[in-house]
Amino acid sequence: MPFYSDDLIEEVRSRNDIVDVISGYVKLQKKGSTYFGLCPFHNEKTGSFSVSPGKQLYYCFGCGAGGNVLTFVMEYENYSFPEALQFLAERAGIELPKQELDEKARQESDKRSRILEINKVAARYFYVQLRQEQGKRAMDYLTGRELSQETMKRFGLGYSNKYSDDLYRYLRQQGYEDEILKESGLVTIDERRGGYDKFWNRAMFPIMDANNRVIGFGGRVMGEGEPKYLNSPETKVFDKSRNLYGLNLARSSRRPQILLCEGYMDVIALHQAGFDNAVASLGTAFTQGHAALLRRYAKEVYLTFDSDGAGVRAALRAIPILKEAGLTTRVVDMKPYKDPDEFIKALGAEAYQERIDHAQNSFLFEISVLRREYDLKDPEGKTAFFNEVARRLLEFDQELERENYIEAVAGQYQIGFENLRRLVNHMGARAGGAAPRKPLKSGIHEKKKPEDGMDKSQRLLLTWLIEDVRLFQVVRPYIGPEDFTEEKYQRIAQLLYEQYDAGQVNPAKIISMFTDEEEQRQAASLFHTRIHEIETKQEREKALKETIIRIKDNSIAYRSRHLDPTDMKELQKLVADKRKLQEIQKLHISIE
Ligand code: UTP
Ligand code: MN
Repeated sequence: MPFYSDDLIEEVRSRNDIVDVISGYVKLQKKGSTYFGLCPFHNEKTGSFSVSPGKQLYYCFGCGAGGNVLTFVMEYENYSFPEALQFLAERAGIELPKQELDEKARQESDKRSRILEINKVAARYFYVQLRQEQGKRAMDYLTGRELSQETMKRFGLGYSNKYSDDLYRYLRQQGYEDEILKESGLVTIDERRGGYDKFWNRAMFPIMDANNRVIGFGGRVMGEGEPKYLNSPETKVFDKSRNLYGLNLARSSRRPQILLCEGYMDVIALHQAGFDNAVASLGTAFTQGHAALLRRYAKEVYLTFDSDGAGVRAALRAIPILKEAGLTTRVVDMKPYKDPDEFIKALGAEAYQERIDHAQNSFLFEISVLRREYDLKDPEGKTAFFNEVARRLLEFDQELERENYIEAVAGQYQIGFENLRRLVNHMGARAGGAAPRKPLKSGIHEKKKPEDGMDKSQRLLLTWLIEDVRLFQVVRPYIGPEDFTEEKYQRIAQLLYEQYDAGQVNPAKIISMFTDEEEQRQAASLFHTRIHEIETKQEREKALKETIIRIKDNSIAYRSRHLDPTDMKELQKLVADKRKLQEIQKLHISIE
């Protein structure tokens, strides 16, 4: 729900020229009517990032990032929609009326900033404790782990006192009420015994979001003890599936990839050794949310997980998620050491850099793990292994890529290139092209639902309508916004139809009506899809007619399924629509 009126959002948007704003971040060069530059959302050497002054949109042909000026600021600065709006309003000298936030939204937003404030106050408190007499043991512990003073400072490390309500009392003194303290996750309030701290007598690791705001904490026992780490619970500001430890620093690294590791200490040790591109998840599994976040900052992710069984399993789970997000993934081998922290302590940064340079392609890593399940000395085991390998190779649907992988596997596993290729092709023919992957024993293989035919048709028609103004006249009599049964397209269709009716199409305005980043991205991509040239006018007309029929047909079927039998009006409309569909089938649709 947008908290601000559409008019106000549109005013802020239109008074911030997209070329002006983006020029502040990216060096742009004009080519024809469009500006180009290096994409700030992924690493690249060629400029695939385009900004259109006419449409007031940007789009990257390399990574698919796209949107209007608000989207850009959200993505670049990691702002929420209201934050981006505030930022651009200030830039244009527009004052946002406070009362535009409805009461509930304002309370929410106040709460969030109060919790962030409490986290900051707590982080400072821990920071100071570590550097005083009472923090000596923690300081000794951290120094014992070879962290320098500078590193401790960069990561804001601290110490939580021995007393069970030390922080609670401090925060109360600072004027924070029980009610909000409860929501910070830092204290628990017991009706009878009062408040006590979540963390005590631990070395404290503040967890920052990409904008350097403290959103939670991890606390480590000093030495042995259970649990080794205690973490803040999820709160209004702490979403573990959408934040990564160290990203606030790694986001501005000049290194071309992100190093993804398992532990806080690994991140810290890597940064101290000069690898300022290291991040880790927050004591939870790696998620699609994490992958989406990483995609903004790098094209390649190197996994540097623990080399034990759990680390390998975690890597096998992360690989398909990263791949799904379009990230290239490699796996760093740290054997014989357990994790990057130990590796660097033992062999140093240079040796680690060498491991990075020789990191293994994630597919070949998967195959090497798979290999351990088979006895290759036994003909049966060997056959089973190569059958499974072939099945996986089939997943590469681009021929050249598949051949390259066949070659790589053949080179590593005593099998002739031709033999393996024949096996793959044979299996492909038998499976009729699509061979489902046998799920990895250890992991769930989440796959996005592929775009089905209807989704595609609706998307196509929308793209046509956006690209070619004349089509609107043709389509309007047959297809209304309600015929777009896919929710995301229906909203766009509604807005687009309204703009057509008002006589002016304004793509950037449509996009800022979506407050969710992923939705904005999707909407923006519609405005940048190039329809591959359909040769003749006749073919175009035929394609258009077929698309209209499919959408109408589907819309009728959809509405029939969801019909409330007492709704006479809708029933009549359905009957009329069915008649209309028959009409269209007989019609000649002409684009002129
Ligand atoms: P590790 O046990 O590998 O921790 O767990 P580490 O960071 O290498 O720590 P050191 O070197 O032993 O001090 C990896 C991560 O899993 C989470 C933490 O995020 C940790 O960094 N974890 C681990 C917990 O949340 N709780 C635990 O009890 C253990
Ligand atoms: Mn460790």
